[in-house]
Amino acid sequence: MTTETKDEATAALWGGRFQGQLHPIFEGLNQSLPFDRRMALEDVRGSVAWAKAIGAAGVLAAEEVTSIVAALGEIHELIAGGSSGIETSDAEDVHSFVEAELVKRVGDLGKKLHTGRSRNDQVATDLKLHLRAWAERLDAAAADLQSALVDLAAEHADTAIPGYTHLQRAQPVTFGHQCLAYAHMLERDRGRIADAAKRMDACPLGSGALAGAPFALDREALAADLGFAAATRNSLDGVSDRDHALEFVFACTTTMLHLSRLAEDWIFQASQEAGVLRFGDTVSTGSSLMPQKRNPDALELLRGKVGRVHGDLSALVTVTKGLPLAYNKDLQEDKEALFDALDTTVTCLEVAALCARDVEVDVVRARAANAEGFLDATDLADLLCERGVPFRDAHERVGVTVERALADGVTLTELSDAARAELLPELDRVDLAAALSVDRILSRRDVLGGTAPDQVRAEVARWRTRLNGA
Ligand code: ARG
Repeated sequence: MTTETKDEATAALWGGRFQGQLHPIFEGLNQSLPFDRRMALEDVRGSVAWAKAIGAAGVLAAEEVTSIVAALGEIHELIAGGSSGIETSDAEDVHSFVEAELVKRVGDLGKKLHTGRSRNDQVATDLKLHLRAWAERLDAAAADLQSALVDLAAEHADTAIPGYTHLQRAQPVTFGHQCLAYAHMLERDRGRIADAAKRMDACPLGSGALAGAPFALDREALAADLGFAAATRNSLDGVSDRDHALEFVFACTTTMLHLSRLAEDWIFQASQEAGVLRFGDTVSTGSSLMPQKRNPDALELLRGKVGRVHGDLSALVTVTKGLPLAYNKDLQEDKEALFDALDTTVTCLEVAALCARDVEVDVVRARAANAEGFLDATDLADLLCERGVPFRDAHERVGVTVERALADGVTLTELSDAARAELLPELDRVDLAAALSVDRILSRRDVLGGTAPDQVRAEVARWRTRLNGA
């Protein structure tokens, strides 16, 4: 490739054997700078470590290392300050950009930095450094949402709501218990990211294009300098491994699945049919046509965005399938899917936390909802069991009792004396209204993992210790 259309600084890094120019359409397809420039600081950091490492290996003289490192420091500042010009550069990718900036500052010396290095081990390293920072961001966002959920749980440890299976009213639970269910999902999500970050913790720099650097490089020292636990031990795998990208996007997908479930529960509970939740103005929207509307758009977006992140996962799986060793340009396609998944997930975690912090629970209506739908039927069967009736028989008899109550248009506690004497003779001396009160039903579930308010309060305390790092 000739460099007539580009200034000397941003000329391609590989033009020696080329006379013609890239077709502009292909040039556009080939260019990754518009999306890989977000790894610019990592690229500089890797370059500094590389300069020092090849200096230590005798490839660069000590003064050369010093000049290169100083120039890279300047470049780092410009990038961090937003005035490096990277947004408008026509460099092919972030690696070309940084090298060109270096050459602008130290001339031919800058061209020595790439000795023994390839963009293949460079991009593999940049990506891992970048993901390392994202692991922290995702973890912090998930932890913040957990805190918001735990605060809600503390406030509503004894707020009774109808619990559902099959979206049919089932048994009363507390709203706090429901909130903590999501805290647990997020805990597993955090674990998945932490696991992925741990497995990713080996430095590919020094793998060269595919075969390894051609001089005595202390790769373990280089890895340590970049904060990695170890150096990768096979150059072919080192430059082409993208398992970490897959694992991060899978972890994001799982988080988004969880957020979609949270969103669905809250959308339903905020409907007029349920009337349990009311979201505030910071996360609700109106209708351009119907003046009365308060729509849960924030939650609907949380529910919908999982489609996008799952799409990113699908893209990444497809891109990496069947790739021969070692580096192939297909791998450049890893970034947009990965970055989109990371961006979307962290934003959705933040929005979910906003929702959790701007919601009111209609405690009275939520409690009242437990009166309809025979949510006390299981406890009635349990009362029979306490009097020696085998559970299967109790289940059968309460089923019949529910039918009778329906026919009579009453609740289980309102059954006539005659119906009770006929259907539930064992319970003739029991104050059913008290024994089947919502509070009684809840407090009976005082078992590890159960919905009893005391359990919820104990769990809240446990979560707070965990989240405050104590
Ligand atoms: N922009 C490329 C990527 O993201 C960098 C590596 C290019 N290497 C190469 N030999 N073409 O994968």
